[in-house]
Amino acid sequence: MSLKRAKISGIGRYLPEYILTNKELETMVETNDEWIRSRTGISERRILKDPDKATAFMATEAAKEALADANVDASEIDMIVLGTVTPDYMFPSTAALVQKRIGAVNAWGFDLSAACSGFLFALSTGTMMIESGRAKKVLVIGADKMSSIVDFTDRTTCILFGDAAGAVVLEEADKGGIIDFVHHTDGDEECSLYQHAGGSLNPASLETVKNGKHFLTQDGPVVFKKATQGMADVSLEIMERNQLTGDDVAWLVPHQANLRIINATARRMGLSTDKVMINIEKFGNTTAATIPLCLYDWKDKLNEGDKIILAAFGGGITWGATYLEWSK
Ligand code: UT7
Repeated sequence: MSLKRAKISGIGRYLPEYILTNKELETMVETNDEWIRSRTGISERRILKDPDKATAFMATEAAKEALADANVDASEIDMIVLGTVTPDYMFPSTAALVQKRIGAVNAWGFDLSAACSGFLFALSTGTMMIESGRAKKVLVIGADKMSSIVDFTDRTTCILFGDAAGAVVLEEADKGGIIDFVHHTDGDEECSLYQHAGGSLNPASLETVKNGKHFLTQDGPVVFKKATQGMADVSLEIMERNQLTGDDVAWLVPHQANLRIINATARRMGLSTDKVMINIEKFGNTTAATIPLCLYDWKDKLNEGDKIILAAFGGGITWGATYLEWSK
């Protein structure tokens, strides 16, 4: 029995209105615009200021736009897979909140924790459901309210992250679609990128809050090295096993963590920068949302049959790449 293929038939996003600029960060921590731009490529990022709104709100808005773009009614969705490390609650899942809010009355779903690789892991999960014939229409979402776990007194992390959501609808493809993926996980015992408290090992307590253990912590240079190596390695791995050269690839859609990591990946893939989707300057690192945010910004430039590589690296550590041929 030959497998069905899945394709992306609709894309949506949500961006909070508030723009936190490098200039404003200069008033909050000892940093400067020049350092942030030259070390990361980031000029500004979005922050969800409304205390009553969080990841599920952004994910719901992105999902609604993706459904409209695909011309699919919420009741047609069979499954929702949502990548996030900043769920509204430990449970119920953010996917369940989205399911209710959009009226996806026939869908089941769950959250998936793979940090910055969350969208790619969710995309592959949704793809396999369509390939197996278990689902016909799947909503895949990457959404993170990073400002809820960022320590805005820590200059090494607070300059990097932003809030946003991106969503895609997956349907059966007649041609093209998602062809292959390679994913990796390597448990990070050295704690180079972590949120130490709030789980079952260190549940919330006065101590954990007092010691800032609910904030994200990162050993930047260690993660930088692993990300630069991992994202390029996995992109080459997927190119090699699909016999693709840099000339064949129309677009690289990289996770937006650092412009230097993106450029290094493109270089090793033999791609010129005009084939690389980059919007890190506007949104920073929105964790699970970066890849759909790029697809959204570039969707009018995508042509039928374009060979596209999506690549990500994140906490866990997790990394992976997906190869698809654009067809809508
Ligand atoms: O998306 C998930 C995966 N995450 C990533 O891929 C992020 C990977 N890491 C990075 O992107 C980079 O490591 C950072 C952007 C976080 C840091 O850049 P770096 O070039 O690795 O800088 P560094 O940490 O080695 O710090 C260099 C210097 C240090 O000062 P000294 O020790 O040389 O005097 C830092 O204290 O820059 C200092 N520094 C800053 N200066 C101004 C660190 N943060 C800042 C800041 N403003 N915000």
